[in-house]
Amino acid sequence: MNLRHPFVVANWKMHKTRAEALSFVHEFKQALPAPPALEIAIAPSFPLLESVAQALEGSRIKLVAQNMHFAKEGAFTGEVSPNLLYELGVTYVILGHSERRGHFRETDGLINQKIHAAFEFDLVPILCVGETLEERQRGQKETERVLERQLSSDLKDLIPSSVDSLVIAYEPVWAIGTGVHASPADAEAGAAFIRRSIARWFNEITASSVRILYGGSVKPDNAPELLALPNIDGALVGGASLDPKAFAEIAQAVPNR
Ligand code: 13P
Repeated sequence: MNLRHPFVVANWKMHKTRAEALSFVHEFKQALPAPPALEIAIAPSFPLLESVAQALEGSRIKLVAQNMHFAKEGAFTGEVSPNLLYELGVTYVILGHSERRGHFRETDGLINQKIHAAFEFDLVPILCVGETLEERQRGQKETERVLERQLSSDLKDLIPSSVDSLVIAYEPVWAIGTGVHASPADAEAGAAFIRRSIARWFNEITASSVRILYGGSVKPDNAPELLALPNIDGALVGGASLDPKAFAEIAQAVPNR
């Protein structure tokens, strides 16, 4: 039996003013007749977390942070601590996004520290992994080597009961923001490989509990085929999540399992 609740997440990245964010929430709430089993969350940029939290009050939409530091406090100018996010009502935190890995040189070691800290402060990580175009062009085996390298370091020293609640987003870097999404066969192969790796490192129960999302140019027109895949439990959506109608359409494409 599949007990994994489907999950769609809007990653707004560095988009939207406060007024735009509030108007999105207003419109999205009206456009959302999605099935109640579906979990929905929005990741605004840090300064908007508090106002978006207020706007989401009383709804079933959860709040996500796009990043965090691993320390509770300290001399880390410009960083944001996990306990502050928790205090603001954040439930999930995106960690290891390819834009953090690429533009800000985040390493798997650092991502591992952040994942441990997230669990310590009762935040659930949405861990992003994925291969670059160059790696993909070297074939499926190379893609699997990259996923294995990222995941094995990112999840180092975690206990299975933590990993059970984890969300992993398979986001091929070449599919992010390009309009070119992974084929259903490639998305499923990546997600299935991730699940098999979790079974190998932890156990079967943990592997069947972990939710795996697909991310990379998810749009209303390709969402139905991507979200119907057996190992894909939802989507992490960038560009199309900026529009409340498009994001609601994607949410409605999640099949009732
Ligand atoms: P796009 O949906 O814009 O390709 O972005 C995907 C992504 O990076 C979500 O985290």
